[in-house]
Amino acid sequence: MKTLVVKYLPRGEASNTKRLLDAFLQQARPAQLETLDLTIYQPEFFGPESLGAYIHRNYFGQALTPSEAESIASMDRMVKQFKSAGVVVMATPMFNFSVPGAIKTYFDCIMMKDETWEIRDGAYAGLMQGRRAVALVTTGGIYEGMWASYDLATPLLKTEFDFMGFDEVQIIMAQGLNARPAEAPDILARAEEQARALAKRWYG
Ligand SMILES: Cc1cc2nc3c(=O)[nH]c(=O)nc-3n(C[C@H](O)[C@H](O)[C@H](O)COP(=O)(O)O)c2cc1C
Repeated sequence: MKTLVVKYLPRGEASNTKRLLDAFLQQARPAQLETLDLTIYQPEFFGPESLGAYIHRNYFGQALTPSEAESIASMDRMVKQFKSAGVVVMATPMFNFSVPGAIKTYFDCIMMKDETWEIRDGAYAGLMQGRRAVALVTTGGIYEGMWASYDLATPLLKTEFDFMGFDEVQIIMAQGLNARPAEAPDILARAEEQARALAKRWYG
């Protein structure tokens, strides 16, 4: 079972989210690990040609021209990599109350009809059964009480993975790292412990 890490951590070694990822991986010790660093391999936006190619092929079953095929080749590679994993570990900070654009664009690439989801008997159905996903997220603010609805990141992550039919989707979030600097070490330590506990449950 391959573990795929998809990360967008532009602060590199200084990243708080990286600490959650490290805690998870140190406990999990996956036999097969592949990492997609979205700060290096930036997912492509749909443009007129690539979106046309996607619709022609995946909605209407039409053959693509070589140029159309080339326009969605990088998305196809990302889909293949995504589907090859038994566990997907996504690591991302919150940016502007949601996920950073690179993470959203990644989902736009891999949420591909008839690859990761399909329309079956008139309803949407996921195609990622038998797999698990966890999102590791850190935030500067605290999303409780009247601010809870400002967190558009974790509902988005949960919805995207659930839609694709993953057997289990977990979100581990360390929130308030900037709003409560004195408590930040404890907040991070608690989230690291949650990440280790999940890895222990999933990898034994
Ligand atoms: C461009 C940018 C936008 C951010 N937007 C938010 C935000 O909307 N809400 C929030 O709570 N924190 C926000 N933050 C704070 C980060 O989510 C927080 O510091 C996080 O822990 C950073 O993760 P990292 O240490 O892995 O880079 C933002 C940070 C940056 C750099």
